Amino acid sequence: MRRSSLPLLRCPRCRRGPLLAESDGEAIHFGPARCASCAAVYPIAEGILDLAGGETRPRRSLAQWLMESTVVARAYERSVRPFFAGLDAESEQLLLRALLAPQAGEAILDLSCGSGIHACRMAHDTGELRVLGLDRSAPMLHEAAHHLTEAGTTVDLIRGEAADLPFGDASLDAVLNVASLHLYPDPAAVLRQVARVLVPGGRLVCATLLPERLQPLDRLEARAGVHRYDETTLRSLCESAGLQRFERIRLAPWIVFRAERA
Ligand SMILES: C[S@@+](CC[C@H](N)C(=O)[O-])C[C@H]1O[C@@H](n2cnc3c(N)ncnc32)[C@H](O)[C@@H]1O
Repeated sequence: MRRSSLPLLRCPRCRRGPLLAESDGEAIHFGPARCASCAAVYPIAEGILDLAGGETRPRRSLAQWLMESTVVARAYERSVRPFFAGLDAESEQLLLRALLAPQAGEAILDLSCGSGIHACRMAHDTGELRVLGLDRSAPMLHEAAHHLTEAGTTVDLIRGEAADLPFGDASLDAVLNVASLHLYPDPAAVLRQVARVLVPGGRLVCATLLPERLQPLDRLEARAGVHRYDETTLRSLCESAGLQRFERIRLAPWIVFRAERA
């Protein structure tokens, strides 16, 4: 966690802030961050700022339970992700980067970054970006921290909730959200949060799963916590959240869309 990234954050308890670190220096590996408004204390360990605390959702879906297991997090990039990916890793990175069009000096959030595959690559390839990664899963974030150390690059890693983003209003230039929207119990709430934290004209690039042709399969998946949305629904969720200029590419079973904060 970089000290200079703390002003982008707000306290998840009082929704104000600012969050202040107690230790000196730009790179904070351990030590608490404290809310200057309500005095809530949040730990930073191995560079990961935990804004979700010990709280776990009372009814976590099976899919999200798996995402929060150490076994799945360790196997995710090598064995799980390639199985579901629509494109090879290189083509996927190029497509997402082209749609996101990051500019030097911008603050970019990889929302539900998982093991950090995109955040890590973006920070590594485009040195002048401020890249942040947020996820609920502590084991996934530990994987991300490990990959970042190996790559010798920096991403601010935050444990937090997508439906209650711990960032200030209009604090980010772009949000990337890959392979995660279908896991959220309330995607409308997440998109509203994305619109809130984006600057006017800020971009969202999102890749999620389209419905299967076989509806019983979708129903089965929904019971495990995977909810697929068609293009019309996604477009209307974006519009309702205040995200306009919806454009999309269909790479069935995936849809990759881009929208901008009004
Ligand atoms: C399939 S992984 C995708 C990870 C990464 N974006 C990628 O493309 O490899 C989905 C991620 O979404 C995260 N996630 C699911 N629900 C979340 C929520 N409500 N808030 C934050 N992260 C969430 C999971 O913990 C998991 O790491």
